[in-house]
Amino acid sequence: MAEDLNISGRLDPDELSKQLGTKIIGREIHVYRETASTNDIAWQFASEAREGVTIFTEAQTQGRGRRGRTWIDSEGKSILMSTVVMPGLPTEEFNVLTVLGAVAVCKTLQISCELKPTIKWPNDVLISGKKICGILVETRQDDNKAPGTFVIGIGLNVNLKAEQLPEVLRDHATSISIELGKEVHRTDIARELLRNLDTLYLNVKTGDLTALEQGWKKLCLTGDEILTLEQSGKIYRGRVHDLDLRDGLILQLESGVLKSFRGEHVSVVPEIEI
Ligand code: BTN
Repeated sequence: MAEDLNISGRLDPDELSKQLGTKIIGREIHVYRETASTNDIAWQFASEAREGVTIFTEAQTQGRGRRGRTWIDSEGKSILMSTVVMPGLPTEEFNVLTVLGAVAVCKTLQISCELKPTIKWPNDVLISGKKICGILVETRQDDNKAPGTFVIGIGLNVNLKAEQLPEVLRDHATSISIELGKEVHRTDIARELLRNLDTLYLNVKTGDLTALEQGWKKLCLTGDEILTLEQSGKIYRGRVHDLDLRDGLILQLESGVLKSFRGEHVSVVPEIEI
């Protein structure tokens, strides 16, 4: 009984901080019952230059995703979080942080849930081809060559039942509980996620991207295949040439030219975007 209560209980900042052991990510944790978007709250702290401050909420009224989409949740069933980082990277390299979020989520799903996640470029985390997590990295600076402040927002479906997923997404989305056939403790998973974010982030902060890049390439679905991408209304088709943390996905177009796609205004076609 106590365990059931714990599973369905609210996230709590003290419990999340207990034996967390991170150096930067989560050194200050705030939990809200409901917010418009955790990314907005994180930006309020970012203006005070509080790197590592991490916001969780039980529900969002205006959760947002990439490319102007909305992110829908069911109260108390997800991990909805945002963290402020200042890695010393120019804002045009935000892709590094998107990858950092995706790899940290994958490691968490492997360690805490024994699941086998993959990353659908650029930033969706999938289990058996279904989306379980989305990542939204934001910057708010005009000069994209200058070192920036970033907010990494993560939405992970934890204890959602199939019927709690938006109907149009049901065939394309999943949650940890759907995959495992049982509910899990969000606090344990959130703590593990903070630890994985912190470990990867400390490397990025010292300029060492090797572990992140290797981890990403292993998890990323894009191997040596042909992809069709849409960017700003234009369609590009080519063979995947490389994945580069800074430059994103590099396609060899049918003309032979190499073109890199950073992900922010790009989608893979003809797959359904979820
Ligand atoms: C996507 O897949 O398009 C990215 C979705 C990101 C959703 C998370 S939930 C926590 C944070 N706050 C938001 O408003 N969005 C991100």
